[in-house]
Order: sequence, then structure tokens, then C-alpha cells
Amino acid sequence: MTKFDDLKSHYDTIKSRRIEDMLDLRRADDFSAQAGELLFDYSKTNIDSDARDMLIGLLDQSKVAERRDAMFSGDKINETEGRAVLHTALRNLDGGSVDVDGTDVIPEVRQTLDRMADFANAIRSGEFTGQGGKITDVINIGIGGSDLGPAMAYLALAPYVDGPRCHFVSNVDPADISQVLRQCDPETTLVIVASKTFTTIETMTNARTAKAWMSEAVTEPAGQFAALSTAMDKTAAFGIPAARVFGFEDWVGGRYSMWGPIGLSLMIAIGPDAFRAFLRGGQAMDTHFRSAKWEENLPALLALVGIWHNQVCGHATRAVLPYDNNLARLPAYLQQLEMESNGKGVSMDGTDLPFDSGPVVWGEPGTNGQHAFYQLIHQGTRVIPCEFLVAAEGHDPELHHQHQLLVANCLAQSEALMKGRSLDEARAIIAGKFEGDELERQAAHRVFKGNRPSVTIAYPKLDPFMLGQIVALYEHRVFVEGVVLGINSYDQWGVELGKELATALQPIVEGSQGAEDKDGSTAKLVKFLKTRGL
Ligand code: F6P
Repeated sequence: MTKFDDLKSHYDTIKSRRIEDMLDLRRADDFSAQAGELLFDYSKTNIDSDARDMLIGLLDQSKVAERRDAMFSGDKINETEGRAVLHTALRNLDGGSVDVDGTDVIPEVRQTLDRMADFANAIRSGEFTGQGGKITDVINIGIGGSDLGPAMAYLALAPYVDGPRCHFVSNVDPADISQVLRQCDPETTLVIVASKTFTTIETMTNARTAKAWMSEAVTEPAGQFAALSTAMDKTAAFGIPAARVFGFEDWVGGRYSMWGPIGLSLMIAIGPDAFRAFLRGGQAMDTHFRSAKWEENLPALLALVGIWHNQVCGHATRAVLPYDNNLARLPAYLQQLEMESNGKGVSMDGTDLPFDSGPVVWGEPGTNGQHAFYQLIHQGTRVIPCEFLVAAEGHDPELHHQHQLLVANCLAQSEALMKGRSLDEARAIIAGKFEGDELERQAAHRVFKGNRPSVTIAYPKLDPFMLGQIVALYEHRVFVEGVVLGINSYDQWGVELGKELATALQPIVEGSQGAEDKDGSTAKLVKFLKTRGL
């Protein structure tokens, strides 16, 4: 029997047990852990100490500690692409050297960070200007990891923004860039083209559109462009002077890249000091991940809870529900981080994965979700493990009473999911209004089965340091889940086929080639759209 089989048998024996029956203050202490001021509570799950021991056994069986150390020390753990995985080096502000192919990468990381800070300061102070004076707007053009990280963090840290306004353009749909350009004055706008490869068609198309827009008003448009990339030859070919190109290496994966140059827009918005605080938060989580024993290790525990719910219990999705409106883009960010990393059907050795790949991740901020999809979470037939995030304090002291209401809602939801409402309780509530068969019928609609698992991540306040901790927590969770599942979390071959077919379809939708060789459905869709203006 594998450890997974043991876990499944254990789950079969305990699955009807009520979580609330196990939950006293001792369990709340035992089934929670803290990293600094970040608390992870998983006591409202059906994991007991036997299950936890078995789950921790998975970490040992799959050699998570060895793989973790290999990642931090620059080994090429991204085996299908032959690359190291070293986004942790970007936030290694206080640690020692890290070698890739015999060269310490840290001096260059620090030099680039200092160059970014100089540039950000020059923009913020007005020393660097556009044709029309001080920069008022920054447009980051990028997609996937070159967009979601900084866009999510810009919103998350909105209370700390004291620089120019930032806009994020990602979609090749012209609706995206045109609504941003309408808001900006080309003479006081800086355009940042963010693309690790500098080949991504959406980004390069939007970058050319932005260049044309700027050329109409600005004599030297290239002077108001910067680039973030690993491909210096391509940034030069696009016409961006080397002084405003911020490079990084192929050991930084796109969805792990916001800690370095891809974070430039964020740094311009919040300033280099706050950006460094964000890096320090990530670094603190790295230290915790490397040193805390598994029972107290947040990334490991978060991963094990994920594996328990997804691969053991068979719950196919997980909802991320921030009771922190500034984290509104966190679910979208995590969709790329988790699903592009662990949505794989083969193991590292090329054989079929013997269990389900990583889960579907989705979510929206509370309390909005409560008035939309929580109905299904509470009474639908599928169990959806929920991950709540909640801060002790908001950013508006004069509205603290409103923040308290937010927190009450968060805690109420996890309690409601766990406790539910029995048929007897439902009957008692409406007994005065209905009787007989009608009472039974009405009561049935008001039953909540409960026993639905959730975890809560709680913290004092969403400041740059805390955001860094939270993002690094999720990154390491993905790493641990990937190692346990035997997946390479750092490639993304699954995005390639669609890109190739889109390129092949371009002449067809432009009309220079017929659609006869395409399948019937595609040909019909092309015809429909072509006869209506495409
Ligand atoms: O197509 C997927 C992907 O490669 C992501 O992994 C990446 O974050 C995104 O595209 C953007 O890539 P780039 O930064 O090279 O433009």
C-alpha cells in the first residue's frame, strides 16, 4: 500500500465524522501554526493527528526537504527545461551567495534591484520626465506572470501607493489597451513592456500599439519606454535603450517573477523602500519554510491540506476567499501560480500521473461572494474546500466598525460551513409558520449539511511585508504539492498548442487563406464571423 492508499482508507473510515465534534480549544491550537504574525488555522478540516502523520509521511517519502534544499541552492530542478528555479534569490536581501553553473547570482540581482530603485526614484521625484514633464501614469504591458503579480500587488498595496498611477494592459483585445490609453496623456506616460521572452504575441502587439500612440504626440517615444525581459537582443531591436532595460535570467519563471524587474511598476508606485519590505516578507517566509519542522511549517501544512482535500477526499476545486478587498486579484493571481504550475498530467519521469493533478482554483473577495456563489458552497452537492484570508485591521481607522463587520462575516462563514443546520433546527425555526407536510417540505430547503472544510489565514494588516509573506507562502505551497505529486511545477507545455494554432489561424481570420482545411466547426465559426464584419 502506498501512503496515498493509506490516506484514502483512513478517509473512508472517518469521512462521516463531524468536524465540530472534534473541535475544542486544544484542537484549535494543535491544528494551527504561525510564521511570524501570520496564522494558519486548519482545525476546521477533517484532518486528525493520524491523517496529519500520514500526510507528513508523504513529505518524507517524496523527499520534499531534499528537493527544497536543491531549489534554494540553484540545482536545475526544472528538469524539462534544464533550468534552476531561483525566484527566491530575487528576495534574498540578507542571505549568502547562490551559485548557478558555478557563478554567484546574488551580486547581479542586487545590482539590478539598485538600478530599478534609482529609476523608480527618478520617476517619483520628477528627475526623469516625459516630454510634457513629470510622469503621471505608468502603463505595464505584459500578460500572465508579467501582469498578474504586479497588478495583484498594486491593488493589494493601494494604501501604500504614493507614486504615479499604474495601469495594467494584458489582453490582446483592443478594448483593454484603448480604454487605458484614453485615460493617459502620452507626454507624461511611461510605458513598461514586461515580457520574459519578449516574443509573446499579445504583449508585443500591445507594445506596438502603445508606441504608435505615443509617436503621435512625442518626438522621441523610445525615451518613454522601459523593458523588463531576459531577451536583451529583442528589447534592443524594439528600440528600447539599454539604460532602461531591466534584465533577469531564465531561472526566474514567469509566474514567480514579480520579485524582480517584473515588479518595477509596483516599485514605482509604492517606492523602493516599501518594495524592499515586500521582498523582506518573502524572504521571511523562505527562512520559515527552510527551518520550521513540518508540523509548524506553513507552506508544508497548506500543501498537505490541499493534497488531503484534492487527491485524498476527491474535491476537485478550492475557493480562495479573501475578506480583504485589496486582495481582489489574489484568486486570479493564484489561478496562474497554482494551475499553470501543477495542472500537469504526467509525472517528472514522463509517465501518467497516478492521481488527479492540482485542483481548480477560483474565488472572489468576501463579502461579495456571499451574495453570489456561496449558496452552492453551503448547499450544493459538491464539497468545495474554502480558504479564507482575513486581517485584524483595515486601512481606514475611522471605519473600523465596518472592518469588524467584515471579520464577523468571515468567521461566520467558516462556522456555518462546519456546523450547518440540522432538519430539527430548520423545523424549529419555521414551526410557527408552517405545519404538517408543508413544514417538512419547507424545512428540507433550509437544511445545511455542514461538515464542510475550510482553512483561515489571519494576519494583523495587509502591508508590503505581509503581502510578501502571503505570496511566498503560496509559492512554496505549490512547490510542496508539486514534489509530493511528482510533477514539474516549473514548465508550462500545456499553453503551447493553443499558441501554435492561433498563429496558424491568423491568415484565415484575416481572409488571406481559406478555412477549408479546418474542422467543420471552426470553418463554420470563421464563416459566421467573416460575414458579419471580421
Ligand atoms: O503562455 C504562458 C506564459 O509563458 C506564462 O507562463 C508567462 O507568464 C506568460 O506566458 C507571459 O510570458 P512572457 O513574460 O514571456 O511574455
